[in-house]
Amino acid sequence: MTKLRLGVNIDHVATVRNARGEGYPDPVRAAEMALAAGADGITAHLREDRRHISDADIDRLAAITRRRGRPLNFEMAVTAEMEAIALAHRPHAACLVPERREEVTTEGGLDVVKGHNTIAPVVQHLRAASIRVSCFIDADPAQVAASAAIGAQVVELHTGAWCQAVREGLSGADALLEKLRAAAAQASGLGLEVHAGHGIDYETVKPIAAIPQLMELNIGHFLIGEAIFIGLGPAIQRMRALMDEARSERAA
Ligand code: PXP
Repeated sequence: MTKLRLGVNIDHVATVRNARGEGYPDPVRAAEMALAAGADGITAHLREDRRHISDADIDRLAAITRRRGRPLNFEMAVTAEMEAIALAHRPHAACLVPERREEVTTEGGLDVVKGHNTIAPVVQHLRAASIRVSCFIDADPAQVAASAAIGAQVVELHTGAWCQAVREGLSGADALLEKLRAAAAQASGLGLEVHAGHGIDYETVKPIAAIPQLMELNIGHFLIGEAIFIGLGPAIQRMRALMDEARSERAA
């Protein structure tokens, strides 16, 4: 099986920084440390309300990832403002996410079926600028098919519901994992690259990493939280090791 890439989302370093309205801790320093610790790329979400990552952070993240030849995955709402920012920076990848001001985090996947007419032109413009486009969707066959039809090259499957079900010991957890597996197989069959993310921690990473079609995981909140206790580098290295273990156990 191919090696699973790890994208580290550094948004919540900016959340802590913004709690004081000053410059520390710096998410760009976290991005540098993440890359040094084995992250394959950096993910950042510039939200409309700028609650964590700022425009200046994106400028600097684009510069350091370009300098190091590592991918920047720019998570963005499907808006004219975000499209213009993406086109100005030309990150390696853009992941289209739904965004509601009142939500605490990205609570569900993008509705590509209903949003077709709004999303399709944005996909086209980003692709024309050589930005790889991903749609962050729920593990739903209609959303997978719509993402392929709209011209996205990647789908990122929202793992949040399954991770939460595992943490809360809910009986529906197995069925949710099965849906993720089926969506990954469907997407791959349609020629899409398949990623996954949201809510992943040490406990949930292995069953996800064992899904053979997955090429990349994007993990943020847990790693930044764990960094408080053991440091960012060791937290990333432990996550990386669990991902590799899951892959080698599956191959064995
Ligand atoms: N992938 C996407 C598309 C996201 O929106 C997020 C959260 O910003 C993540 C991955 C990472 O989720 P978490 O912070 O829960 O690990």
